[in-house]
Amino acid sequence: MEKVRKQKKHHVAAFKTPRFMHQCCFFLFLFTLLATTTQAFDYADALSKSLLYFEAQRSGRLPYNQRVTWRDHSGLTDGLEQGVDLVGGYYDAGDHVKFGLPMAFTVTMLSWGAIDFWEQIADAGELEHTMEAIKWGTDYFIKAHTSPNVLWAEVGDGDTDHYCWQRAEDMTTSRQAFKIDESNPGSDLAGETAAAMAAASIVFKKTNPHYSHLLLHHAQQLFEFGDKYRGKYDASIGVVKKYYASVSGYMDELLWGAMWLYKATDKEEYFEYVISTAHSFGGTGWAMTEFSWDVKYAGLQVLASKFLMEEKHKKHVNILKKYRSKAEFYICSCLNKNNGSNVARTPAGLLYVRQWNNMQYVSTAAFLLTVYSDFLQSKNQKLNCHDGIVSHEEILSFAKSQVDYILGLNPLNMSYLVGFGPRYPKMVHHRGASIVPYRESKGFIGCTQGYDNWYSMQGPNPNVLVGALVGGPDHEDNFEDQRNNYVQTEACTYNTAPLVGAFAKFLQLENKMLVHDSDSLQVASF
Ligand SMILES: *[C@@H]1O[C@H](CO)[C@@H](O)[C@H](O)[C@H]1NC(C)=O
Ligand SMILES: *[C@@H]1O[C@H](CO)[C@@H](O)[C@H](O)[C@H]1NC(C)=O
Repeated sequence: MEKVRKQKKHHVAAFKTPRFMHQCCFFLFLFTLLATTTQAFDYADALSKSLLYFEAQRSGRLPYNQRVTWRDHSGLTDGLEQGVDLVGGYYDAGDHVKFGLPMAFTVTMLSWGAIDFWEQIADAGELEHTMEAIKWGTDYFIKAHTSPNVLWAEVGDGDTDHYCWQRAEDMTTSRQAFKIDESNPGSDLAGETAAAMAAASIVFKKTNPHYSHLLLHHAQQLFEFGDKYRGKYDASIGVVKKYYASVSGYMDELLWGAMWLYKATDKEEYFEYVISTAHSFGGTGWAMTEFSWDVKYAGLQVLASKFLMEEKHKKHVNILKKYRSKAEFYICSCLNKNNGSNVARTPAGLLYVRQWNNMQYVSTAAFLLTVYSDFLQSKNQKLNCHDGIVSHEEILSFAKSQVDYILGLNPLNMSYLVGFGPRYPKMVHHRGASIVPYRESKGFIGCTQGYDNWYSMQGPNPNVLVGALVGGPDHEDNFEDQRNNYVQTEACTYNTAPLVGAFAKFLQLENKMLVHDSDSLQVASF
């Protein structure tokens, strides 16, 4: 029996340097973009599958329309010991702890994807599933935010959870819940949860205005709480330190929360916050080469860049330019066009940040690159990197290369999106996926019994964790599909979340291409 100990903490790669930019044949570009790869991927399938993954990660009472049927109700007494209803939300990865910070980041990224790629997701018929995935998170955040200055941050703890290998439906491990409040602050967690609820409020604005308003109300209170009672949540909640320590501190999340609140409310006070604390909170100081559940600067800087051209923000042009130069540093670093400070790549061209769960950085990069490319296109501008001027087409093409690598265009011909294509990881490090489905076999499987009978079992998992993006290959494109290789075979909700929007974008591109293709065929045949 092996006891799995995981430490998801990492160090942050950052550089203090600035950079600058300016001003762009569409079908030719589409041709080159899609013709350069011999393989055409079914992005519609990838999109649908990515959304299924969030159903597999559900905690709580599952609804009648639950599509992932190897899962059942679980965690139904979460919060009971503390006298609060914390039933619901998402398990973060292959285990059963509900970690607030990565869960909130997951919801923020799903929401951002839904906002920026709304039409594309709607055209694919996946809007409803996208909104369900977001709402499963926000319903939980509403429960967890029990009073203005109290937010429940975690249910269960990593150490006791990792002692057992069980289905969520059989869980016997501690479900102790942990909170932040005035005397145990957590500005990072409060800021990110505010960001998630503000971003989600934009998503629900038209279809569910009452819910949207409720989310906004919580978001505003949470931001105020996080701003007024400053501190890192891992200083208040020790048990999270080994798993999701806030290495970058809380300043990025406060800026990020204010940014999303500004987008959701249009209230000047939030914009003023992003401007007035830009320098002291590192918003215009940190030049990053990664974007993750811990470090929000690059995402913030990309969002701030978009305000630069707006008339009403003219008086803040200098600060917005600084934000934008840092956003461009990030984009250029992914494109390998900075002066030295670039993101490493595997021999086959995958962005490589670090060994453990590298794919999380690939999916966030693919997302930010896609968003930034769309932005440049809308403004008819180009990106000025140290090593040259880059068109929006090139940026999008690189983002597509990363997404295509994920879907199987790599030396192993392996899709790292589980359940997609002919070859994908079969031994994903995931308790539920690796054990016989509860609905088929309700006999209790104990804590260590799971390790003995299922964890150490040879052969594929009985359940396919469809839509999960696993940690992925090493720095030489190698991948070992083994259940105990959690560095490579574990998936997390925040890996898949940014892909939803990106898949929708590439699906639209592919469809345009097909329309154009059939047009030219018709022209040719006449
Ligand atoms: C690029 O980096 C090199 C080495 O650090 C430095 O000497 C040079 O001045 C930099 N160039 C620019 C334009 O920043
Ligand atoms: C991947 O696919 C290519 C093209 O079909 C093939 O030449 C190559 O041998 C495959 N590689 C592996 C590891 O299966």
